[in-house]
Amino acid sequence: MMKTKKLVFLETYGCQMNLADSEIVLSLLDKSGYSRTESIGSADVILVNTCAVRENAEQRVYGRLGDFSRYKKENPAVVVGVLGCMAERLRKELLESESFVDLVVGPDEYRKLPALIDAAIEGERGIAVKLSRIENYDDIVPLRTDGLIAWLSIMRGCDKFCTFCVVPFTRGRERSRTLVNIVREVEQLSRSGFKEVTLLGQNVNSYRDGENDFAFLLASAAAVDRSLRIRFMTSHPQDMSDALIRTIAENENICSYIHLPVQSGSDRILELMNRSYTADQYRSLVKKIKATIPGIALSTDIIAGFPTETEDDHRKTLELIREVEYDGAYTFKYSPRENTKAWQMTDDVPEETKLRRLNEIIDVQRSISLHTNRSLIGITMEVLVEGTSKKSESDFCGRTDTNKMVVFPKNGGAAGSYRQVKIDHVNSATLFGLQLHAAANG
Ligand code: SAH
Ligand code: SF4
Ligand code: F3S
Repeated sequence: MMKTKKLVFLETYGCQMNLADSEIVLSLLDKSGYSRTESIGSADVILVNTCAVRENAEQRVYGRLGDFSRYKKENPAVVVGVLGCMAERLRKELLESESFVDLVVGPDEYRKLPALIDAAIEGERGIAVKLSRIENYDDIVPLRTDGLIAWLSIMRGCDKFCTFCVVPFTRGRERSRTLVNIVREVEQLSRSGFKEVTLLGQNVNSYRDGENDFAFLLASAAAVDRSLRIRFMTSHPQDMSDALIRTIAENENICSYIHLPVQSGSDRILELMNRSYTADQYRSLVKKIKATIPGIALSTDIIAGFPTETEDDHRKTLELIREVEYDGAYTFKYSPRENTKAWQMTDDVPEETKLRRLNEIIDVQRSISLHTNRSLIGITMEVLVEGTSKKSESDFCGRTDTNKMVVFPKNGGAAGSYRQVKIDHVNSATLFGLQLHAAANG
């Protein structure tokens, strides 16, 4: 007898790897007779894929759990499950403190989800939070909702153990998928009409499958379809090999954009963070990258107010940001995380100092971004149209190869097409322009 499909509502927090995991979860559930719904009101199962990287990421999830708890009071038959990094970090504690939560499932246990949900429907609460040294979902084709831009996880976990970071504890040991399966997935994406693939991992450049390193994987992925853009993130400065830099330079369809988090400009702090490079080593790396890949765009992550950070350390960070001239920066106030090494250091930078330093970093970066973007006025750039601009029905938005957001009047073209856009004004976050109607435009 055909069973009607049960409906799952799934919300995702955190990084791109979590977004990619959610597509794996949906794929696993789809095979077991569950399909996705966008409306919570029609859902039999509510899942939230969570992030634990900073205190405020968890607070956001707790706020949302409050909504689900009220919802469950009115709809007691609904199953509520917490997935991802918070599930892994808090484990049993979550089941104990949140009595309406039926399921707690960590990132390496998603294969158990269908059975756990079935049991929860029968009234049995469940938990699965073992980390694995081998699970990489290599055989699972993610159920993607976007048809244009794909996230593709090439590895899981992290072995770097930066002292501030919870990821090695929530995601476990580093492990890479097989090169053949990744390349096969890129081929499928190309055949299904995708235009851009982002290879994902906490440190994509420490990817390894036998003899094959990330540079080889990247070149192999790029060779699949030269009209398919290949992006990748995140790159760790320590593993940025010369071969990798050359590969990016030599392949037109590998995007000229590297997310290369530095975290701090002070050697003393970098050492305390266990980042394994000095500020000068990072500077030389950037110099080499810029010399080898003309026009490369760089972005970074910065933490303000790591334990013992002085005004002098902070000044060094600002200096480094000015020197590198990043195209963008993701900036965070230090947030102590249980189990990490830094947890044992005193969180001694006062909140208002952290905030001031953060704002100074943001201000410096904003003026650099504005300056760099202004230098693009009058230049024609190729943009992959992603869709209608959020702010205006009559405009498209899309990205350049260097990952800059461009907004321009529709006037021909469609989502998924490449357009030539002449930039006429900018702000620090977005470029605005007009389409050129060259004959080559499709
Ligand atoms: N694997 C990537 C990033 C992982 S998390 C890398 O190595 O760079 C994304 C960013 O969150 C980090 O780069 C860091 O800047 C920030 N972050 C991680 N833990 C943090 C913490 N405890 N407090 C504040 N920011 C943190
Ligand atoms: Fe965290 Fe460091 Fe690993 Fe990045 S490299 S995920 S910051 S431990
Ligand atoms: Fe957050 Fe986990 Fe990603 S902690 S940043 S969702 S790996």
